[in-house]
Amino acid sequence: MALEPNFLIPWFFLCIAATISSTLFFFRKKPHLFASKKLQNKKKKLPPGEMGIPWIGETMEFYKAQKSNRLFEDFVNPRIIKHGNIFKTKIMGSPTIVVNGAEANRLILSNEFNLVKSSWPSSSVQLMGMNCIMAKQGEKHRVLRGIIANNLGYNGLESLVPKLCDAVRFHLETEWRGKEEISLYRSTKALTFSVVFECLYGIKVELGMLEICERVLDGVFALPVEFPCSRFARAKKARLEIETLLVGKVREKRKEMEEEVERPNTTLFSTLVEALIKGDITEEEVVDNMVLLVFAAHDTTSYAMAMTFKMLAQHPTCRDTLLQEHVQIKANKGEEEHLTVEDVKKMTYSWQVVREAMRLSPPVFGSFRKAVVDIDYGGYTIPKGWKILWTTYGTHYNPEIFQDPMSFDPSRFDKPIQAYTYLPFGGGPRLCAGHQLAKMSILVFLHFVVTLYDWSLVYPDETISMDPLPFPSLGMPIRISPKVS
Ligand code: HEM
Repeated sequence: MALEPNFLIPWFFLCIAATISSTLFFFRKKPHLFASKKLQNKKKKLPPGEMGIPWIGETMEFYKAQKSNRLFEDFVNPRIIKHGNIFKTKIMGSPTIVVNGAEANRLILSNEFNLVKSSWPSSSVQLMGMNCIMAKQGEKHRVLRGIIANNLGYNGLESLVPKLCDAVRFHLETEWRGKEEISLYRSTKALTFSVVFECLYGIKVELGMLEICERVLDGVFALPVEFPCSRFARAKKARLEIETLLVGKVREKRKEMEEEVERPNTTLFSTLVEALIKGDITEEEVVDNMVLLVFAAHDTTSYAMAMTFKMLAQHPTCRDTLLQEHVQIKANKGEEEHLTVEDVKKMTYSWQVVREAMRLSPPVFGSFRKAVVDIDYGGYTIPKGWKILWTTYGTHYNPEIFQDPMSFDPSRFDKPIQAYTYLPFGGGPRLCAGHQLAKMSILVFLHFVVTLYDWSLVYPDETISMDPLPFPSLGMPIRISPKVS
């Protein structure tokens, strides 16, 4: 029998009245409970926003926007307009707070380990390895960071720049010479790969290695399901192949170094193996971090290089100014002479161009953290255990921070930039450990290309896709011809 709604209404009110009176009776007896509950509720005000449909939340909207490289336009910005700079959502199964703005970036990024910890998808951790720096916290992170960042930081650059020059020259000689058209993005990816293997590890890149590593990277953000032929299963198989190769190289290197009387640390690889010999880190830590660095450097540096060229193609005046800078540097060098750190320091305008390209097209859109305590911010509480997403777009595209933000203007970097607003390399204790290497690689590559080649984009309007990092959808083909001197 169906009950008439009219019949239900009195029952409904009767039940409510009974609940209220019994609750009041209970709290008259225990007033402290009532007070503390009220206080807690008052304190824990969640940011505004929508949690979407059960389980899935707003994941589909997030993925759709990401795939078409419109994460800011279609996901972040409409919610900023509706809810403000901090809003809640649910993506990839996790309740998440998205924060935007310099103050929020500072709070989240500078309080790594105190208020938040980095939070990577399970597939990334499984493929990069549990022992890589991005999965480490506290003291373990400090030790690994000391080894990696020291080597890739300013101290290591003196020896790295000549190696970068050799790598770029060799790449242009073998991949560009005699060709009329190349895929710039494929080229920058191959170059970045050989920079990590040959310049940082001293390991010669052999046929097939790049493909194996790309298969690993392909699964880094995939669903961690191991059906045969799933993206993740293929990536795990590839990880095993690269791991086997690296374990062999680490053992060989260890043996070789243990037999030496003096062991000068000439590469990041030898520094890692030295730390292994001393017992500061384990073999798994060496291997996992070697895999991670390929991932960290690969799609990021190559995309920044490609987007710099795209911006130069669209802005001929900037291109001419940049070329002048490199022609002057070249004029003071012998034919076969390497560039030095001092030469690269003179590329000030070029670096402004690259920075502006990364402001408009950041290789990394932001990253996730997890709150380790309740965090009070902006009148709201970010509950312990929730994910937090900070984004580069939140400040890079903000007209109050970067005037006329969608226009390409390298001169905006003539003046110092407010802290925590320009974040292509992140910030705080997890600031990109390879940012100096990335800078040097991009500038050295620019130097040789613009002084040796005339080039133009085949498809000036080529779109950018994301999966989950951005890439030119057609691989950015360019026409090239050697410069006539
Ligand atoms: C243009 C190129 C690059 C960009 C835009 C970039 C961007 C970033 C960002 C945003 C982070 C911080 C992620 C977070 O906060 O969770 C990061 C971390 C990191 N990057 Fe880069 N990166 C680049 C190149 C490189 C290179 C060339 C290397 C080394 C070969 C490298 C090594 C690392 C490492 C090891 C970390 C983790 C640091 C830590 O957890 O302490 N990156 N990178």
